[in-house]
Amino acid sequence: MASFAAGCVVIVGSGLIGRSWAMLFASGGFEVKLYDIEQQQIRNALENIRKEMKSLEQAGSLKGSLSVEEQLSLISGCPSIQEAVEGAMHIQECVPEDLELKKKIFAQLDSIVDDRVILSSSTSCLMPSKLFAGLVHVKQCIVAHPVNPPYYVPLVELVPHPETAPTTVDRTHALMKKIGQCPVRVQKEVDGFVLNRLQYAIISEAWRMVEEGIVSPSDLDLVMSEGLGMRYAFIGPLETMHLNAEGMLSYCDRYSEGMKRVLKTFGPIPEFSRATAEKVNQGMCLKVPDDPEHLAARRQWRDECLMRLAKLKSQVQSQ
Ligand code: NAI
Repeated sequence: MASFAAGCVVIVGSGLIGRSWAMLFASGGFEVKLYDIEQQQIRNALENIRKEMKSLEQAGSLKGSLSVEEQLSLISGCPSIQEAVEGAMHIQECVPEDLELKKKIFAQLDSIVDDRVILSSSTSCLMPSKLFAGLVHVKQCIVAHPVNPPYYVPLVELVPHPETAPTTVDRTHALMKKIGQCPVRVQKEVDGFVLNRLQYAIISEAWRMVEEGIVSPSDLDLVMSEGLGMRYAFIGPLETMHLNAEGMLSYCDRYSEGMKRVLKTFGPIPEFSRATAEKVNQGMCLKVPDDPEHLAARRQWRDECLMRLAKLKSQVQSQ
């Protein structure tokens, strides 16, 4: 381990999310061992991380206090999972979203780990009670769900199994803070966790309004990007209520009847029919044609915007 390393973290699965985690842990000074079933994926990941870190440095957006070379020296590939987990304090699983595959990986880890290491999954929507069922080390298991792209979007949802030890949640929370992420504790597991439940509620009403011809797809998106989203980057919906009156109680006194009236007009879960999907797609393609080049360019633009927003937020928060 490099003499300045804060501890060792293992990443299982070196794809999109595994690479981001590796960069974040290295930025926090942790030694990172990358494991993947495909050796070529590890090589690709190491190359891709080097490029990414260099361009982040040029843009002045590299995280942490270590130099690029110091951070890169902390990350290495490991051909064997057994070897990788030796001496690790935290294992972050990042294999594809497939319950049986993830269960197989956790069963394998369960048979080789000690009683201290944390076993954490990046799953977007698999329930901890299914993922970690029957494991000997279930007290050490947790979901730490990042948001794409994790290097610029700091939220991590921590979702315990009903038998996860409180110290596992506390240690994971502290680790996420140490690498500059923003962990939130989901106190009971629920399908979709919190972020996707909120996201799906928004998508659901957006879809209904476009389907019913109330607003065009592009104007619907403007309502979020030029309206609600402007505040939501800084304050959430509950604080918005608190600030939009003389505190939350006053907001509820003034607006709860109106909210209930409107909420009663919400329709059933959309079917996401082909006809509406085509209508929405037409609207989206006016701005971003759905070929790989245009989509990739727009994603890059989005990531640059997020990087700048992250900088602005850190300036605002340090004031
Ligand atoms: P990916 O497909 O980019 O990477 C998966 C990696 O796992 C590949 O390198 C693959 O070779 C490797 N792998 C497959 N089987 C393996 C095994 N048995 N042992 C070791 N490595 C194995 O997937 P991605 O997008 O990185 O997703 C990983 C996890 O992160 C998923 O659970 C996903 O739901 C979650 N996630 C993904 C987000 C996204 O936007 N892509 C956002 C938040 C979470």
